[in-house]
Amino acid sequence: MTALESCTLSQTRRSLSALAYFLRRLLRFESAWVLHIARFEDKVTLGLALGFSGQMLDFVALRQRELGSAADGEWVTRSGRTLATFDAQADTVALTGIAAFVVGANRELGQTVAWLRTCIDPLYDQPTLWALDCVTRLLEEKSAMLATRGWHGGHCDCRLLTDDHAPAALRQQDRCPPLLDQPRRPQELQLGDAETPGPAVLVQSEAGQRQLVHYIYSEIEVAAAETCARNIAEFGDGMPLQFVLDMARQCADEARHAVMAEQMLAHYGGWLGEFNYRNRIWNAYIKGESLAERLAIEQVIGEGNGLDMSAHCMDLFKQHGLDRLLRYYEFLQADEIGHCAFGNRWIRYLVDGDEQRFTDVVASAARKTGSGVPGYAPVCVETRRAAGFSEQFIAQQLLKGAAGETASRAGLPGP
Ligand SMILES: [Fe+2]
Ligand SMILES: [Fe+2]
Repeated sequence: MTALESCTLSQTRRSLSALAYFLRRLLRFESAWVLHIARFEDKVTLGLALGFSGQMLDFVALRQRELGSAADGEWVTRSGRTLATFDAQADTVALTGIAAFVVGANRELGQTVAWLRTCIDPLYDQPTLWALDCVTRLLEEKSAMLATRGWHGGHCDCRLLTDDHAPAALRQQDRCPPLLDQPRRPQELQLGDAETPGPAVLVQSEAGQRQLVHYIYSEIEVAAAETCARNIAEFGDGMPLQFVLDMARQCADEARHAVMAEQMLAHYGGWLGEFNYRNRIWNAYIKGESLAERLAIEQVIGEGNGLDMSAHCMDLFKQHGLDRLLRYYEFLQADEIGHCAFGNRWIRYLVDGDEQRFTDVVASAARKTGSGVPGYAPVCVETRRAAGFSEQFIAQQLLKGAAGETASRAGLPGP
């Protein structure tokens, strides 16, 4: 194909726009569906899948910006068939239907991108080829991950690029699977109200170490992934694209942490359901009445206090020679700093950078959930700084509050 026969600039823009629409809509569906799946292994599969969708969208959106497309939400075009395909899937809530669509959509995207690559001029538009190469690699990895975790089959015929394209921003009224206020849970996991002992007690015995990892898996990581998914599904379309990408990244991180916890639990001879759980992370999150409050509850208070607790736990692991748990926590902590930073960044965006309004949102979120700011563990200032907490917040809210009584004293905030 010669340069004259390849895509024109406007055709490339339109094609990238159609890919972006497909990926954004797919992300919203995958996010809503995370809450509908009960079995943890499948819920985690979707959390991991959603991370691939976000990474692909990142590459496509970057190339769109380079080619001078307009700002978020205005540059999205879609084919009539794509719109109809997603609208028809909005009633799907059963695992088999979800898995079939996610696998099928990945295959459809793969075929579309492979075809589009042949239309791009390798000299005039080489960076679009680079972007599509990155997308292709991610599609292949996503496909392999889905197959490895038992998600097969599926069919999706969107004709992404072959239909008429109409300019269309994503709209709240576009159909989406229903949002659940209580995510589904596996039968083997039983609700209970017993407090989990603190880490200083748990590290003393193998049974305690097993309970610690069970707590992280059942109470923290899966629920954290769910909060990010819900943020995308409920608030994503009214926020900048980067917010959606950040939440997709965090959801995938939490899903990966859940896999790490699942493997660690197996190493200790434990199993999901060996201990009760309280669903504290989700129940706290859903008390937030705005996106800012939800981010304050999960990313800033929950994960912020978790940074201090994790530093405390790592000291305990060192004292007890628990090298396996130490290595595990070091990787968790590296990711959690980024998650806290997401919360700090996007609350600041929502309060126009006003420090007092930021503090007010956090205080309101703490009141609604009965949480302490900071929590039980000594404040780890260095980590708090790395996570984007302001010097003012550290001095006036964290260090000042550290001497006082805190509401989450009995709890075990975590990664
Ligand atoms: Fe995590
Ligand atoms: Fe996290």
